[in-house]
Amino acid sequence: MPPDGSRDRSAAPLADVAGEPRTLRRLLVTGGAGFIGSCYVRDVLGRRDGTRITVLDKLTYAGNEANLAPVRDDPEMAARLEFVRGDIADAAVVEPLVEAADAVVNFAAESHVDRSILDPEAFLSTGVIGVHVLLDACRAAAGRPRYLQVSTDEVYGSVAEGESTEDAPLAPRSPYAAAKAAGELLVRSYVITHGVDAVVTRGSNTYGPYHHPEKLIPLFVTNALDDQPLPLYGDGLQRREWLYVSDHAGAVDFVLRNGASGETYNVAGPTERTNREVVALLLEHLGKPWSLVRHVEDRPGHDRRYAMDGSKLAALGWTPRTPFEDGLAATIDWYRANEAWWRAARSGDWDHWYQRQYAHRLAGGQEAEPLEAEAAPSTAD
Ligand code: NAD
Ligand code: DAU
Repeated sequence: MPPDGSRDRSAAPLADVAGEPRTLRRLLVTGGAGFIGSCYVRDVLGRRDGTRITVLDKLTYAGNEANLAPVRDDPEMAARLEFVRGDIADAAVVEPLVEAADAVVNFAAESHVDRSILDPEAFLSTGVIGVHVLLDACRAAAGRPRYLQVSTDEVYGSVAEGESTEDAPLAPRSPYAAAKAAGELLVRSYVITHGVDAVVTRGSNTYGPYHHPEKLIPLFVTNALDDQPLPLYGDGLQRREWLYVSDHAGAVDFVLRNGASGETYNVAGPTERTNREVVALLLEHLGKPWSLVRHVEDRPGHDRRYAMDGSKLAALGWTPRTPFEDGLAATIDWYRANEAWWRAARSGDWDHWYQRQYAHRLAGGQEAEPLEAEAAPSTAD
């Protein structure tokens, strides 16, 4: 070891044992109190295989310790969870936690496109500086922890036709997506320059329980439960691939243990739908009328379509399990059964946010035209 105590980073990253998933028993999960990160924590600890997790989370408006309540309520799982409130951009907090970990799984980000249009700064501080601090701590740590960056299909930009493969150019179109692309490029640079052992996942639109109500599906479900208008941007014909949250969390864990260092893996949802189709289906499940829908002013720079080719990850051995209709029904049941959770998430600065984002839109909105066209989904799963 060099005199300054650091490790020689010129060595090649640790090789995977051929065909064997890595055994990683001490995980640092950043952003583990958010939507997908908390699902990951619940699911990994729920395997009861001795894995210990430290969650580092800043608890922004989107982070919620209540998302980890199922772990806290179970003594065996609770004993394997440590929670640290802090910022991934704070090196003094990050370094000792990374030093103690076999792997770092980074879910932490500002995640809402609409907020990135109004207030982009926090997106850069977490998505760029925060990622840099985590990577630098991995570079310096004696145990050479593996690093996984949770990224997004939004780095490809809007995809008019076909599906993005992992080697497609990065073409982000919102401040959120640009920050995520920048984070990925930092990962790439640390793999090449410093030999950090790192992998990247790019997930598609994720939905499920514990999803903050600012996003399309939970916003429309909770508004509909209250018989409030549903603000559909533009013509509502934008297309997304919908991925159930436990499938997304499972894919992240699969790549953490099986992915090759320096590689990126698309985690493609199984079902492409227009927003109108999604809304029609959720209203049908809720037994609420289409007349709640309002066509409102569009999101600036709104990406028309995301679509990814998931064959690289399928070849490694992972495909999503949850059909959209089943996942959506389970999600709606969860929101019905957990009203206290979503009412709490719609408190604090929620009214201020809602006014800022929607008041003028709803004032100028129009009732949506009837639904005939949505009777049959427009694409195969
Ligand atoms: P989320 O907004 O629900 O959760 C983000 C979490 O990160 C919160 O707990 C928040 O408190 C925490 N956080 C934010 N800034 C932090 C900081 N500086 N330091 C420490 N913690 C911080 O987000 P999500 O939907 O669960 O997304 C998780 C990750 O997955 C993000 O990186 C996002 O870009 C990516 N992703 C999300 C989706 C999706 O559809 N939700 C799809 C693909 C990729
Ligand atoms: O594709 C992956 C991305 O999916 C993630 O990287 C992001 O973190 C996540 O937020 C999500 O981004 P989207 O912008 O696609 O999700 P959102 O739920 O905000 O919007 C989904 C679609 O619904 C999009 O076309 C915009 C539209 N929409 C959204 C809201 C909140 C509306 O029509 N009305 C709304 O009020």
